[in-house]
Amino acid sequence: MANGAQDGSRLVQVQAPAQRFAYLQAAVDDAAAEGQRGEELLIPLLQAVQGKFGYLPAEDLAAVAEILHVPLSRVYGVATFYNQFRLTPVGKHIIRSCTGTACHVKGAQMLRDALQAELGIAPGQTTPDGRFTWELVACLGACGMAPVIMIDDEFHGRLTPQQLPRILRTYSA
Ligand code: FES
Repeated sequence: MANGAQDGSRLVQVQAPAQRFAYLQAAVDDAAAEGQRGEELLIPLLQAVQGKFGYLPAEDLAAVAEILHVPLSRVYGVATFYNQFRLTPVGKHIIRSCTGTACHVKGAQMLRDALQAELGIAPGQTTPDGRFTWELVACLGACGMAPVIMIDDEFHGRLTPQQLPRILRTYSA
């Protein structure tokens, strides 16, 4: 064909995605070495994606579907069924604010309002700088310290809105 250069550039375009998803092939090889086959590989591959990115990017889910020859809807079905998987990026620190009854009567809503003002995001979102993801949870199991928030693995109890800015600053790294 006269357009050999075009063929060459097309070849480069095909190779780049293959390199991008090489880690998935490595995960397939690892799981296959342990005897897993076919759809049994789906969860190990999703774990590999999340291990690499901290969440499940859409293009990697499409690659998983292609590698396993399963419908993309099946991949999303499994990804959304298990709580361990996330479809959106998370921040470096995860804030969990309690919406349980004990915290509610001790002023949890004021804490949520203060968090929203400090972070500039709504629950379920991540700050634009990627520092915090904010989630609401039913009860953190520390009702005696109400109102409570948790940042990563640390509890912050009997909290007032005035204390929040100082606490958030300690997670600036
Ligand atoms: S109600 Fe908030 S920790 Fe239990």
